[in-house]
Amino acid sequence: MEILRACIFHTPRNAFDHPDSLIALPDGGLLTSEGKVLACGDFSAVRAASPEAPVRDLRGSYLLPGFIDTHIHFPQVRILGGLGYSLLDWLDHLTLPEEARLSDDTYATVIAREFVHQLAAHGTTTSLVFGAHFAPAMAALFEAAATSGLRVISGLVLADRLLRPELHVTPEQAFEASKLLLGRYHGHGRIRYAVIPRFALSASEPMLEVCHTLLRENPTLHFTSHINENPLEVTEVARLFPWAADYLAVYERFGLIGRRSVLAHNVQATAPELHRLAASQCSIAHCPASNAALGSGIFPMRRHLEARVHFALGTDVGGGTGFGMMKEALLAYLLQRVAPDPLTLSPAQMLYLATRAGAEALALDETLGDFTPGKSADFVCLNPPGDSALAGVLRRLEDPERILAAILTMAGPETIREVRVAGDLIFENQLTH
Ligand code: GUN
Ligand code: ZN
Repeated sequence: MEILRACIFHTPRNAFDHPDSLIALPDGGLLTSEGKVLACGDFSAVRAASPEAPVRDLRGSYLLPGFIDTHIHFPQVRILGGLGYSLLDWLDHLTLPEEARLSDDTYATVIAREFVHQLAAHGTTTSLVFGAHFAPAMAALFEAAATSGLRVISGLVLADRLLRPELHVTPEQAFEASKLLLGRYHGHGRIRYAVIPRFALSASEPMLEVCHTLLRENPTLHFTSHINENPLEVTEVARLFPWAADYLAVYERFGLIGRRSVLAHNVQATAPELHRLAASQCSIAHCPASNAALGSGIFPMRRHLEARVHFALGTDVGGGTGFGMMKEALLAYLLQRVAPDPLTLSPAQMLYLATRAGAEALALDETLGDFTPGKSADFVCLNPPGDSALAGVLRRLEDPERILAAILTMAGPETIREVRVAGDLIFENQLTH
């Protein structure tokens, strides 16, 4: 049992539905025991209720719930920074050649470790990870994740057309390889398995049927894919599935859409799709950096809110610009400021999108996403270096909302002092302390 004493922020309720959802505790106390939160409140009150608990004095630091990234690609760590493309030519010229390199098990192991290290170093404690096309590379990712202690939901990426031959498998091979992987890793420690066709473009109908079978046989699996990212992609999907009224209808036809489904992007969403996404409780992974970098467009956030379609944030490494979820929240803010139908996100909404909204998207909100007693003690401790511009700004701020806004605007990975999952230390920055 331990009380952490620091400035604490969290959003235990949906920050779009509840304007007062931000809990800000300038002198806060987080009481944890055996990896769980027992209490969170003003330090004096938490201390008075548990006078016997030892106190860890982290004054000058900021505690946030661990970040939850709902869309990130493990094989794409080394193609970050590839600017100047749009989705389909980016895939052809940069991404798919790199993904093919993960057929080399030694290389895949190096990339898996690099990827997992970067998640931890950026304070991302839970992620829905687009995997590789090769089963040994997936085993390398799951092993690296298990060693790190991070929560990772991932799975073999399935495709049988229009990528490049090295990345294609038959639906039968996809089924067998997925069964083996999920049998070995789903529910193993903090790992969960997801069924992942790359996108409708690269999946035949038999392949989507395989996805359906896997989900039907294992209702606790997750499902993720891409949708409505780029206009050319949408046109191609319409050509390949002439019977489908829209992009979403392809996934719906195969029973892939529900509470445990997360679809990335949805920039080109139509009104009927938004309506059906809300009805099915499917979530969207909003990836503002990637949407801008690949010229996909500006996410219609207001339309998602009005249709009551749930969304959370994804960094979409390597279409995006890096692993930082605070940066992603800032980009969501910046792009919505200049959207055709603009919105001004509050600091509470930005924090919510990077934490609790992700837990909701992954159907993990009973256990993750904020510091409600009973939830897992997954958190990030931030400590801006003394000589940083952020430290200077924070020295003169008193209003908690402005403090949070400054952190979300300026804090890079150098501010991350410590990261814990269920109380276990998974990353410690030796430089700041
Ligand atoms: N659509 C299909 N594959 C990908 C990918 O790797 N990244 C993004 N952003 N979109 C995709
Ligand atoms: Zn993606």
